[in-house]
This record gives sequence, structure tokens and C-alpha cells, in this order.
Amino acid sequence: MKAAYIEKFGGPEVLQYGDLPDPMAGPGEVVVDVHAATVNAADWKFRAGEYTRHANVKFPQIPGRDFSGVVSAVGEGADLKVGDAVFGVLAAGKEGTYCEKIAIAANIVAKKPDGLSHINAAALALTGLTAVNSVEDTLQLKRGEKILIQGGAGGVAGFAIQLAKHLGATVVTTTSAANMAYVKSLGADEVIDYNAQNFTRVVSGCDAVFDTVGGDVAKQSFAVLKPGGRAAFIASGAEAPKPDRTDVKALRPPVPRSRKAMERVAHLWAEGAIKPPEVKLYKLAQAAEAHRVSQGRHFRGKLVFQVR
Ligand SMILES: NC(=O)c1ccc[n+]([C@@H]2O[C@H](COP(=O)([O-])OP(=O)(O)OC[C@H]3O[C@@H](n4cnc5c(N)ncnc54)[C@H](OP(=O)(O)O)[C@@H]3O)[C@@H](O)[C@H]2O)c1
Repeated sequence: MKAAYIEKFGGPEVLQYGDLPDPMAGPGEVVVDVHAATVNAADWKFRAGEYTRHANVKFPQIPGRDFSGVVSAVGEGADLKVGDAVFGVLAAGKEGTYCEKIAIAANIVAKKPDGLSHINAAALALTGLTAVNSVEDTLQLKRGEKILIQGGAGGVAGFAIQLAKHLGATVVTTTSAANMAYVKSLGADEVIDYNAQNFTRVVSGCDAVFDTVGGDVAKQSFAVLKPGGRAAFIASGAEAPKPDRTDVKALRPPVPRSRKAMERVAHLWAEGAIKPPEVKLYKLAQAAEAHRVSQGRHFRGKLVFQVR
């Protein structure tokens, strides 16, 4: 199969395009012919060698965590059939969707809704899984609450804005001037241009914060919470930052993989609560270029590989 892969950790230039062996379906697994896979920020962190758990990996390594495609082989005991259109996210800690075929446990993928394209299904896979786990399961956002979502133009935050509105919350979000109209189109009630205004001066009284930016933005986010408020962080590593006050909670969503969670994502799309993000398409052979854009961190929505 064709794949984008690395033979060593390093900058975007270490990404190569070429032939690697096809995977086989083990017990409980299916092989999926990948139609679309996306670029997530985790992919360039992996490519750069930032994840210590990968210190002893064997090369070549294929980056990538989410996909949409069609089942082409079924391992013993797997409850899907050849021809099923499915989408999903690899098991936690696994990389390898920038390619034409993947093997994955059938019980963590879901059927792709018919009207949703492979490109849009892939664009909603890890973003949706993360947003649902963060906003619904971890923050347990409720109708009438106010949430600040940091980094509104990104893939995860864009899903989270729409989900929070669907749950009946008031949404404040941060973005650069270029993306203000985009985050408003996703339903944000109040938009702060983070280059023009410091959010800690203009936002207060929030029940919840969902931070997708990290760094100082994450640490300063506690300031906008009401007493008893809770904040969830996905861009600050494996642990949430420590709050500088004792009356709020800092949470790190675990983002577990499951078919049920992917079905929740599919259901939210099917009931019209979530629309797919703005998408920029790449070919697998352009993986280095896609990583440069992702690592620059100032694009909108999702970067997606059209594999087939
Ligand atoms: N399982 C997990 O834990 C998990 C899963 C998915 C993602 N993540 C993490 O979540 C983070 C977000 O990922 P993503 O793919 O949704 O988006 P991303 O690619 O990391 O972020 C892109 C967006 O960030 C915005 N941005 C950059 N700096 C900002 C700032 N100071 N304030 C507000 N917005 C800012 C940019 O908008 P502007 O151009 O308008 O600045 C851009 O649209 C990443 O760190 C990723 O690793 C974790």
C-alpha cells in the first residue's frame, strides 16, 4: 500500500511517501481501505519525537489517528462485514492512518452515516470524539450554563462550540480576527479576538472552560470561572494545569475510544446538531506540507488527506 511515513523523528521534511506492507486483520479486527485521514496536532508532536512513550519505536512509522473508509477484510470474531463504510480513531497510543489500509479493532469503529462523505466523517472523527468526551462526559455541560472555549477556529473547538450550543449553553470563544466570522457561523454567542483583547479582562462568570490552546492561555483560563466552575484541558499534555485558586476544578479528559462514542458523533451529525468543519484537502504525498500548516497553528477547521 501507499503511505506517508517517517524513518526517524524530526521536522516536516522527514515525512516520506512510498510503499509499505499491507496490514492483516487479527482476531476482532477489520482491515479498512482508507478513503480519508486527517492531520491532528498530535501527529506533528509524534513526528517530532515529543511523546516519550514512543522513544523506542521501530521505524518506519506511519503517523495519523483518525480515518474514514470501507471494510475490506474481517478478522475472526469481528462484527463488521466487507463493504461496511466506517469511521473512527485508532486505539489510544497508536499512530498510523496516513496510508491506504489500516487494521483496527472492530469494536472501536462505527458505521459512517450514508449522507456524510468520507472526508467529512474523518474530519469529525478525533475532533468529535474529543469534543464529546470533553464537553459532555468530563465537563458535563448543562443547559443555561456559560462556557469559554479557547481556540474556536480549531477542529476540536469548532465541534465543541456547536455541541455546547446544542446542549443549550451560552458560548464565548477566542480566535484571531481572520476567523471571527467562521466561529460565529458555528454558533458562538460572543467572540474575542485574542490579539486585540486579553480574555481575562472581558470574560467572567463562566461555569466551564474548554481549553484547546495550551500554554499560558490554559493557565490563565481559571480566572474566568465562577466559584465551583470546572475547566477541561486537552493541549497541556497528559495532566491539566494546576489551578491558582482552590474553588474550581481542573480536568483532563481521558478521550477513551469506543464504538458508542463514535456513534454519538454520527448521531449528532445526523440530527443536524453538528456540521463538518471547513476542510483543506491534501494528498498523502503532501504530508510534509500539511504538517507545516498544522504546526503553524493558524488555519481553520481541518486538514484532510483524500486517500482514495
Ligand atoms: N485526545 C486528546 O487529548 C486530544 C485530541 C485532539 C486534539 N488534542 C489537542 O488539542 C489541541 C487542539 O487541536 P485542534 O486540532 O483542534 O487544533 P489546532 O490545530 O491545535 O489549533 C488550530 C487553531 O488554534 C487557534 N489558535 C492558535 N493560537 C490561539 C490562541 N492563542 N488563542 C485562541 N486560538 C488560537 C488557531 O486559530 P487562529 O488562526 O484564529 O489563531 C487555529 O484555528 C492540540 O494541542 C491537540 O494536540 C488533544
